[in-house]
Amino acid sequence: MSKLIIANWKMNPATVEEAVELARATDQEHLIICPPFIFLEELSRIIDKGQLGAQDLFWEGDTGAFTGEISPEELKNLDVTHVIIGHSERRQNLGETNEMVAKKIATAIETGLIPILCVGETLEQKESGHREVVIQEEIAVALDGVESDQPIYIAYEPIWAISTNPNAEPDKPENTLEVISFIKKVVQEVNPEILSQLKFLYGGSVNSKNASEFLQHDEIEGALIGGASLQAEELNKILNEVS
Ligand code: PGA
Repeated sequence: MSKLIIANWKMNPATVEEAVELARATDQEHLIICPPFIFLEELSRIIDKGQLGAQDLFWEGDTGAFTGEISPEELKNLDVTHVIIGHSERRQNLGETNEMVAKKIATAIETGLIPILCVGETLEQKESGHREVVIQEEIAVALDGVESDQPIYIAYEPIWAISTNPNAEPDKPENTLEVISFIKKVVQEVNPEILSQLKFLYGGSVNSKNASEFLQHDEIEGALIGGASLQAEELNKILNEVS
């Protein structure tokens, strides 16, 4: 089974020249590069084998009076096919709520962009036994009433596992599999019609040493990669394993 690798460049790199160099060095089938918005146009001319994704979008589909926002239509005009929605860094730093995430998911699907919905708990929520409650809420609100004949990716990204957090360590694949089963159960309750469209990714400190531990499982259909996706050699090792 072929796996999908999503490169979440976050707020990197600093210049368009560096962005072009990194995209050229990693462009491969099965890779979706999600750069900052400002590099999308340039990279749309460069990316050939892989695809282009965005790190966010606004919930109004077209154009309008929304200073600082980017619409799905604008993204599609730059050949963007996928969009990350509800990344924990946006939820934590910008106060993005489950309701905002839900609006973004609905708009992405309506306009034909494939959403990558991020969910996951903090260390404190994990340690206090609240992992299920948090994920249940994130999933139930985001996918309530959603209809789609396109895939919807759900990236389980435990916040404590994201490499930029203190003492971050990757999750254990068995734990990720447990969370995936749990999410399926939640969707079975809230919106069973879309169950067959769901595909699951793992994210959080994925690198070339641990990627296959996750990706060897059929249920984990890809990885959302931050830090390691900014190092061409490291990312290419992962891509070579999945192709
Ligand atoms: P990381 O980031 O691979 O650096 O842990 C993943 C993410 O935040 O999407």
